[in-house]
Amino acid sequence: MVPLLSIVFWSLLLISVSANDVSTAGLSSFSPFSAMFVFGDSLVDNGNNNYLVSLAKANYVPYGIDTSWGPTGRFSNGKMLVDLLGEFFGHPYLPSFAATQNQDKDITWGVNYASAAAGIFDETGRHLGQRITFNGQVQNFQTTINQLKATMNDMNLSQYLANSLALVNHGSNDYINNYLLPGLYSSSFLYDPTTYADILIKQYKTQILSLHDLGLRKFLLAAVGPLGCIPNQISRGFFPTGACKDEVNTMVILFNDRLKSLVDELNTQYSGSSIFVYGNTFAALMEIIQDPTTHGLVTTNRACCGIGRFQGSISCLPFSIPCSNRDQYVFWDAFHPSEAVDRILALRAFNGSTSDVHPVNVSQMAIMF
Ligand SMILES: *[C@@H]1O[C@H](CO)[C@@H](O)[C@H](O)[C@H]1NC(C)=O
Ligand SMILES: *[C@@H]1O[C@H](CO)[C@@H](O)[C@H](O)[C@H]1NC(C)=O
Ligand SMILES: *[C@@H]1O[C@H](CO)[C@@H](O)[C@H](O)[C@H]1NC(C)=O
Repeated sequence: MVPLLSIVFWSLLLISVSANDVSTAGLSSFSPFSAMFVFGDSLVDNGNNNYLVSLAKANYVPYGIDTSWGPTGRFSNGKMLVDLLGEFFGHPYLPSFAATQNQDKDITWGVNYASAAAGIFDETGRHLGQRITFNGQVQNFQTTINQLKATMNDMNLSQYLANSLALVNHGSNDYINNYLLPGLYSSSFLYDPTTYADILIKQYKTQILSLHDLGLRKFLLAAVGPLGCIPNQISRGFFPTGACKDEVNTMVILFNDRLKSLVDELNTQYSGSSIFVYGNTFAALMEIIQDPTTHGLVTTNRACCGIGRFQGSISCLPFSIPCSNRDQYVFWDAFHPSEAVDRILALRAFNGSTSDVHPVNVSQMAIMF
């Protein structure tokens, strides 16, 4: 009996170990960065909005349905891009900044400052309530630095920061929760799409340089995805067909082109000491939407959880019943991709070619300087 039980025990252990290896593609021993600091919106928020008075929250069922931890404020059925990247690095999951201020949390592996509804511009998302704008996130990072100073001397701290990955995912809300809502925001009356992209990038550059001044040196800057294809956008208008809205994607491309140029400009200016990488999530998502089956996906123009046309008119409400085949959906809710998609994006960021990540991938960033 005992030997048999122990054989069963050991084979179960082996199965769980190999399953874990598959999920992290055997990368879990790779620990290249000191830490990761995340700035962004709901695509990467892991709980900061739980502490705010906001309509943009995801701390209820069925969010997190495919995780052991349940609803946490992550806008996903499962793990998000930043969780998966952390797994590749062999790092623990990051605490949200809000949690670090309200509970005793280990900040040595980094902190996540992202806030749903937030944008590059302070006014972005204001109709949804409180949010921590990109400017506010930079200030919160300064708070973390002051906390770290209690545990490290200045020299160690500057090395630690220079060896950390800064992941920035901003810009989507400056379109969907600002420019594309002319009834609530004046930006589309004041600026044509080209000028709007110009002023967004000008502000974004200032914010990135503030983070650089504070000591970060390795930046992964995510492009804005094809917002014209998200269920929230395709469900708008009088006769939506379910096709992507090209006019929205065209606007986003204006921003992305400037972001890529900014990356080239900063890499030239800070050559040898810093690296800025453009993460081409737009191209990767378009590729997935145009050819889902290659990636094991099926449904591209309908949210797994939501109400109305393409289940995208109203996003996933508390206690909604989501679709059951979540790993076949590109979009989990009206705005956010499923874990299945984030897993593809994370792998491509980590070890993709230059069409995914320009000019180098994240595993290359890790060994630079
Ligand atoms: C910090 O740096 C000093 C040398 O300046 C070194 O002796 C010490 O081990 C370092 N501490 C940490 C926590 O890295
Ligand atoms: C990274 O990509 C290269 C080139 O496609 C491949 O040879 C290598 O196995 C990949 N490494 C990992 C860890 O996935
Ligand atoms: C990512 O970068 C690593 C390190 O430079 C390289 O070995 C690998 O081939 C790259 N991946 C792809 C798919 O090009």
